[in-house]
Amino acid sequence: MSTTAMKVLTDRINRIEVSATMAITAEALKMEAAGTSLANFGAGEPHFATPKHIKDAAIDAIEKNFSKYTNVAGMPAVRKAVVERHSADFGSNYTVEECVFTTGGKLALFNAVQVLVDHGDEVILPVPYWVSFKDIIQYAGGKVVLVESDEREDFRITAAMIEAAITPRTKAIILNTPSNPSGAVVSPADLEAIVRLAHARGIYVLLDECYVYLNFTGAAVSGGTFTDCKEHVVILGSLSKTYAMTGWRAGFALGPKQVISAMSKLQSQSTSNTTSIVQKAAIAALTGPQECVAEMRADYLKLRNQILAGFETIPGLTCTVPQGAFYVYPNVSAFIGKGGIKSTSELASRLLTEAHVVVVPGEAFGTSEHVRLSYAVSADVVDEGVKRMREYFKTLG
Ligand SMILES: Cc1ncc(COP(=O)(O)O)c(C=O)c1O
Repeated sequence: MSTTAMKVLTDRINRIEVSATMAITAEALKMEAAGTSLANFGAGEPHFATPKHIKDAAIDAIEKNFSKYTNVAGMPAVRKAVVERHSADFGSNYTVEECVFTTGGKLALFNAVQVLVDHGDEVILPVPYWVSFKDIIQYAGGKVVLVESDEREDFRITAAMIEAAITPRTKAIILNTPSNPSGAVVSPADLEAIVRLAHARGIYVLLDECYVYLNFTGAAVSGGTFTDCKEHVVILGSLSKTYAMTGWRAGFALGPKQVISAMSKLQSQSTSNTTSIVQKAAIAALTGPQECVAEMRADYLKLRNQILAGFETIPGLTCTVPQGAFYVYPNVSAFIGKGGIKSTSELASRLLTEAHVVVVPGEAFGTSEHVRLSYAVSADVVDEGVKRMREYFKTLG
């Protein structure tokens, strides 16, 4: 009797890895469950509760039995809320047909890449990058073309750097500003230059605007602002960080009708509509009072300043000043090679087990000398975490 050796898993699933941030979070959860008190800077999510008016809208939707399927792309009302919010805040001019509501911003990104990137297509990705970009491109069969940035220039990305990476196979550029992990912000002038350059070459700019409202420069700008280039711009948005709604799973894409329709088609064969109740909560978030967004941003700015001040008390640690999001990305190269630590992964793992501080190694974001800390935590956790890091690094000699 002969058996044919059958491969169990597909090549495409073998091209990607489990999200590094999720792996660290899982380990930290295990330690916390076992009673260890951690200074946890791992997970990239707001420590705030979802604002009450948003929760009330969801409770009301449940009470009113708003529990049936909706349009796959989201109810017209939620898409209208998205396009009107975006237009009011950034001067974009999308229609409801140019919007799909998704189960989180990550799905918007995943679906956009699935419908735009074919095998062998090149996608330009600035370093450091958010972990998922690389895997999502690779899952689609695309080739990641990395563009290195310079820490001494605050990880700035310019149009010239992007232009130098373009080849005849370039299909798309992924930009995330403010950036996870560095907090770097693409300047309005650079963003406009990149969008115009891409539009002129017929290349898509996939703009991850997950942190667009968490910009400390006072000059928040969106790729959708340049309305004459919208044919080649796809905005990937999320309510997760803006309204402290990570667990609700609410995101969206804005883009050319053809791309949005294809994303809706893909959604129709996978997740279908985002939870009906979440859509109602999203309408409340997008059309309700926006003061909560400004208040949370002001708190993040205070926490950023606090953690940067704390870092100054740690000899050897250096850090760029992030202009947005809620991450700091300090350079820890001074500690590599000490105490038998050979990489930032090892450093992160030793910080977790020996100092009870959770950080994410820079290797997950494409650099080998940094760790990422999310300061979306209380001021007390910032103080305690910095103290533990300072004491731990001292022991390394
Ligand atoms: C850069 C970036 N994009 C997208 C997302 C996904 O957000 P969500 O799927 O919660 O909307 C995240 C979450 O951490 C992120 O950091």
